Amino acid sequence: MDKIYGITPHGGKLVNLKDLSTKATAKAENLPKLTINNWNISDLELLAIGGFSPLEGFMSKADYDAVVNTMHLTSGVVWSIPITLPVSKENAAKIQLNEKIALVDANGTIYGTMVVTDKYQPDKKVEAQKVYGTTEEAHPGVKKMYDTGDIYLGGPIKLLKMPSHGDFSDYYMEPIETRKMFHDLGWKTIVGFQTRNPIHRAHEFIQKTALESVDGLLLNPLVGETKADDIPADVRMKSYQEILRYYYPKDRVRLVIYPAAMRYAGPREAVLHAIVRKNYGCTHFIVGRDHAGVGDYYGTYEAQELITSVESEMGMQFFKFENSFYCKKCGSMATGKTCPHGAEDHISLSGTKVRAMLKAGIVPPKEVSRPEVARVLIEGMKRK
Ligand code: ADX
Repeated sequence: MDKIYGITPHGGKLVNLKDLSTKATAKAENLPKLTINNWNISDLELLAIGGFSPLEGFMSKADYDAVVNTMHLTSGVVWSIPITLPVSKENAAKIQLNEKIALVDANGTIYGTMVVTDKYQPDKKVEAQKVYGTTEEAHPGVKKMYDTGDIYLGGPIKLLKMPSHGDFSDYYMEPIETRKMFHDLGWKTIVGFQTRNPIHRAHEFIQKTALESVDGLLLNPLVGETKADDIPADVRMKSYQEILRYYYPKDRVRLVIYPAAMRYAGPREAVLHAIVRKNYGCTHFIVGRDHAGVGDYYGTYEAQELITSVESEMGMQFFKFENSFYCKKCGSMATGKTCPHGAEDHISLSGTKVRAMLKAGIVPPKEVSRPEVARVLIEGMKRK
């Protein structure tokens, strides 16, 4: 087995549940097949490559209940978001307990296997309230969860085929590989950055402020499913490639995709984002304002507060940043902690406002978006 470098993985061990041999797939051909969607496939992949360590499969009822109600696994390890495999009642009825099944995509391609050790009916209202903080369908993560099957299957998995990452393949690494890369680069302290948006000046400010205190920065944009009005992942990735070329030191930053789906679960998702980045080898993680939030569902610093409540159990450190903006009087990026001037001197735009400007072909001010990034975004929006 390859050596595992760096910080202790979450729960103590970096999981590897891949079997990419042709023999394994040939054997799986004879199993009953269950069709799963892209979201499930991305969860399957993250389980298998150890991003979700110490999980070794889709959650059993016991772990699911513990996570929903106490934000911990039954083992006592912190875990914030249920990783579940929802199926319809009809499909669940066809599967026997302890049966091994093949997990296939819509085309019938086998991606993995699972031994179904548990079948249970979740109370989705409770899950919505406890995990997302609301039962409203207007919340995109809650709606997605409500729309899935009524029964959850639990049990250990194997990944038999790596999902394709298309244009992003060059930026794909498994946790064991990022850990080795950090080791080879001589980085002992690494800060992870989660994002689902194109890079703007406030992102750059908090990344670089953190980078002043650590050896390296892992830019880890989420490229799995997002809601329809978010900027598409390929455009976001271009914005990163562009800015890295001109404004970041080559030997202190690495861009690697995070192949997960976005839950928009705010504080609970911030905890998950941190856990996964620890598994990728990050010793530090950035949580800014309204991390993984959507609409007005979460308080500006609620994610930071939840992180603080479990920080001593996380085995990693956090950079918590206040809302950042450009201050005309300071002539620089700043936050309320460092700037004495009033809101009338501050330039900051919400993601929604920037998206509206881009759609209209208007270049956002350079204090919000670097011109190189703005160009990529306007081009990208035209194409869509
Ligand atoms: S997220 O859903 O992935 O959290 P986004 O890509 O906008 O959304 O944010 C990435 C990270 O940057 C998060 O930690 C978020 O809190 C932080 N962040 C975004 N904008 C700001 C800002 N203006 N000030 C401080 N932190 C910010």
